[in-house]
Amino acid sequence: MAKTLEEVIAEIKNRLDIVDVVSEQVILKKNGGRYWGLCPFHKEKTPSFSVNPQLGIYKCFGCGAGGDALSFIMKTKNIEFMDLIKELAQKYGIEMPTNFQKQNVSKNLRNEMISACEKAAMYYHDLLIHQTSDEIKAANNYLTNRSISREIIDKFTLGIAPKAYTTLYDILKKDFSDEVLEKAGLVLPSKEGKGYIDRFRGRIIIPIQNENGDYVAFGARALYKDQNPKYLNSSDSLIYNKSKLLYGLYTAKEAIKEEDGVILMEGYFDVISAQAHGIENAVAACGTALTPDHIKLLSRYTKSRRIYLSFDTDSAGQKATNRGATIIREAFEGLGDIKQFDESYISTSNDKYSCEIRVISPPEGKDPDEFIRTVGAESFKKIIKNAPLLIDFQVNNFLKHKKDYKTPQEKTKYIKEFLPVLLEIHNEIIRTEYVKMVADALNIDEEALENEIRKISSTNTSVAPQQEIKKIVTKNVSVSEKAQKNLLSVFLVSDSPFTFTQISEMIDNSHFSNETLINVKSTIDKLICTVNNVKELIEQLYTAYIENPEIQQVLTDLIGIAETFTNLSQEDFQSVIDENIRRIRRCKWEEEKEKMRNLYKNADEDETEALKIQMQIRDKINNRIKSEKIND
Ligand code: CTP
Ligand code: MN
Repeated sequence: MAKTLEEVIAEIKNRLDIVDVVSEQVILKKNGGRYWGLCPFHKEKTPSFSVNPQLGIYKCFGCGAGGDALSFIMKTKNIEFMDLIKELAQKYGIEMPTNFQKQNVSKNLRNEMISACEKAAMYYHDLLIHQTSDEIKAANNYLTNRSISREIIDKFTLGIAPKAYTTLYDILKKDFSDEVLEKAGLVLPSKEGKGYIDRFRGRIIIPIQNENGDYVAFGARALYKDQNPKYLNSSDSLIYNKSKLLYGLYTAKEAIKEEDGVILMEGYFDVISAQAHGIENAVAACGTALTPDHIKLLSRYTKSRRIYLSFDTDSAGQKATNRGATIIREAFEGLGDIKQFDESYISTSNDKYSCEIRVISPPEGKDPDEFIRTVGAESFKKIIKNAPLLIDFQVNNFLKHKKDYKTPQEKTKYIKEFLPVLLEIHNEIIRTEYVKMVADALNIDEEALENEIRKISSTNTSVAPQQEIKKIVTKNVSVSEKAQKNLLSVFLVSDSPFTFTQISEMIDNSHFSNETLINVKSTIDKLICTVNNVKELIEQLYTAYIENPEIQQVLTDLIGIAETFTNLSQEDFQSVIDENIRRIRRCKWEEEKEKMRNLYKNADEDETEALKIQMQIRDKINNRIKSEKIND
């Protein structure tokens, strides 16, 4: 029997891991029982965004955003709740209730596009290995000359797009609409305005798979001399975003995890050569510069965020190395220092660093592909093993050119360019060592160099440590509202010494005057009859308010408050409840007094009215005194 919608949602929630979900968009670093990162909902340089895996929720102490895994996806992907449920149900193979089975249009289009790309990849591949025309022989020769074996051709589904105009179109139009083929970037409307032609012609085809193995795009290398551009790449589409996808990741995933490191290369063939020769943790951007999103993608697979940059050895490649390092730094900014020394006596823990950047710069060959083919994979592996940390690579590079700088002016200018590298070393001892090294090499005064660095670093605003994150209180909540929140949050304390029923008996509906809190309280009342624990209660609450981000935010607030009430003895827990009830009463009383005072003031002219109010005030005071006696 098909499940109910509630059952489907519960099952999806069960499968979602908040850390995994958030890690798709945010680089997280574990600290205590929580994970921290830069908030995706507001701009910040120090992490105030936290994920609590025990409760399955996230919360930003900076902007107040918060919620569970589902609401995180909804917010970051800007997708409606039901669409998300349908998508995830499909992903996990959970059957939707019959009345929800209609698929939305864009989902269908995506699937069609992926299916068209897959068909195209298989078709191009088939042509390469089965056809024997001169053109295809030439392609095979080309690959053989590049030492690409049949095995490699199969592993990467390499193929050939013949020169003719409609080879692919003629085949795929039988199964796909023109719209799907055009959107997938496989065909173009012909210039004469009649029909379509293949986008890739006379090229070696390198199919691109996303993380899940779906075929989503193509790189296509020129096969003939004077054919421009050398690489023709698919444009971004509904299924392909090149700034968030890395070539080779699908096949490299496991190796990246296992090696706890990833090698970033420049070209498709670098990755193909590397992976084909047992260096399986290599990936590359697809004809685009490295982006922070690429780095986020990678940091999900390597615990210690060890990233090797293995770019071309020419000067363009070296510039790319520096740019790459900058992008990596940017992506990890605020999460701590980049690993800057290898000495294990200081710390062996990788958690200490936000990431580790190493540079692979072989002495021969223009790129990894060429090096592996001419010198060998074993030598490349040795170079990986001995790859210097970015800082050492930069210092070495710098010192390599020291002979070019002789006059004091030249030296000063050169040092200025290099200072930022030294400035990045936050550990004083390590920095002093490097300063000594650089000063020695250039034959300049060490102290002067150190002074120069100090001058600059004191004007730089240094990044505040995580411990200093302060809650930014966005709203000035009145005392009563705060007390009401405290009181309601008592239901959400994970290790509470009381049962839900006991708490429920202590907390009366009349204590709440804030509309949202009344609303949440009544939902809690309903839910506590069915849930088994606080985690479930929180899950159900987020689901109940899934379409209401404002209330979700309040929930997050409440959960935050509840966390401050953990580890309390029965007695202390009870006094939290009592104290807040007292505070609410006091506020209510103040409010009423204020109201009366106003009435009394306005009734100035009317003596009878004034007298009446006076009596009322006295009654109130009497009641108040009585109730204080009972409650205290
Ligand atoms: N690239 C591109 N468009 C170009 C040139 C390069 O998209 N016109 C991208 C491709 O992703 C390519 C990478 O940049 O793989 C590196 O370029 P390059 O070093 O020129 O190519 P190689 O990978 O060395 O290619 P080959 O070995 O086939 O010459
Ligand atoms: Mn190259």
